[in-house]
Amino acid sequence: SDILDVDLSLLKPGQQSVVTWRGWPVFVQKRTPEMLKKLQDPALLQKLRDPESRIPQQPKDAANWHRSITPDIGVMIGICTHLGCVPTFDAPTQAEPSGKYLCPCHGSQFDSAGRAFKDAPAPYNLPVPPVTMISDKHLRIG
Ligand code: FES
Repeated sequence: SDILDVDLSLLKPGQQSVVTWRGWPVFVQKRTPEMLKKLQDPALLQKLRDPESRIPQQPKDAANWHRSITPDIGVMIGICTHLGCVPTFDAPTQAEPSGKYLCPCHGSQFDSAGRAFKDAPAPYNLPVPPVTMISDKHLRIG
């Protein structure tokens, strides 16, 4: 259906789950403090095409550096903006605490907020669907 409720209580920080909304894969991600810090790292921002999300790939309330309504929860449509493959999540580790997305088709990379790297074929950030928080532990897509 057009409305999908997602239970966030099953997600641990640094994990994502993939849900299906309107037939599309949607990444729902809980971020760690390290991921949030990295999303604001000036060295990272320089490498991104649209770090402040000025191009409308998201609703207005997600046009910000974390691309979501609340910084520690990310929701993105999992379809590469190059030619539509599904990027894989490279989950944060101790050695590489930022987490990112890699597209298996032509090597596009996105940071953990779905922002495209400049040297990637993907021209835009991953789209963000409309999201509302319906409680501390549940969000609604659609
Ligand atoms: Fe993702 Fe081409 S479809 S890089």
